[in-house]
Amino acid sequence: MSDLDNKSIPAHIAVIMDGNGRWAKQHALGRIAGHKKGVEAVRETVTACRELGVRYLTLYAFSSENWDRPAREVKSLMGLLEKFLKMELKTMLDRDIRLLAIGNCGTLPENVLKTLNEVISKTQGNSAMTLILALSYGGRDEILEAVRKIAREAAEGKIDPGDLNKEAFSDYLYTEGIPDPDLLIRTSGEHRISNFLLWQTAYTEFYFTDVLWPDFRKKDLIAAIRDYQGRERRFGKTSDQLLGDIP
Ligand code: IPE
Ligand code: IPE
Ligand code: MG
Repeated sequence: MSDLDNKSIPAHIAVIMDGNGRWAKQHALGRIAGHKKGVEAVRETVTACRELGVRYLTLYAFSSENWDRPAREVKSLMGLLEKFLKMELKTMLDRDIRLLAIGNCGTLPENVLKTLNEVISKTQGNSAMTLILALSYGGRDEILEAVRKIAREAAEGKIDPGDLNKEAFSDYLYTEGIPDPDLLIRTSGEHRISNFLLWQTAYTEFYFTDVLWPDFRKKDLIAAIRDYQGRERRFGKTSDQLLGDIP
């Protein structure tokens, strides 16, 4: 199927799915047609990750800043999201995929939130892969919300600020219990983080491709993982230390 090393498949892949609008423009279509086409790439990526043994897949589907897009586009994106959730429930159940969402989900339209919660609850017992949708997600909002909660608990005397460490802090984020991404892919040639997983990507490997999201296929995912497998993750140490020559 691929020349990948099955022993070092990233446990968690995060994707900034970008370029739907430019894809549509290239094909002389409206932006919404680009988003519709993007859903096909989502399906293929979910299936491929499940087959390759990726344990967590986080997809940046809608940022806290995307609310500022034209109302018509926002409405279409919400409609596509609801349709996707309804259509993919069966696949998620068949393929043992659990769905989670991260973000300020309370701001989603009521019908979308209802469907989202239904799919989350129906798939909660699944364990082969966790698909995490970042919806109305902003990394700074996430950190701020955590800080507010911690400050409140400290004021109430429930926690001692001195006891707070990196691990404890992580538990206040939307991603509580989810390991940090090993690999972050951004499509469409943009080289920025756009407020995605700011805390969690401290040691994530980044991979950028010019491929526009609607054109992203399994071969592109494999190319990203192959690139990842060729890297040395040093986490601040030296290469020699990693090889075990020096303690
Ligand atoms: C990504 O594609 C989809 C969302 C952000 C929802 P874009 O819509 O950002 O596409 P470009 O960047 O305009 O090409
Ligand atoms: C990031 O893409 C958000 C999603 C992919 C959902 P954008 O297209 O919104 O990012 P910017 O604004 O170009 O940085
Ligand atoms: Mg974009």
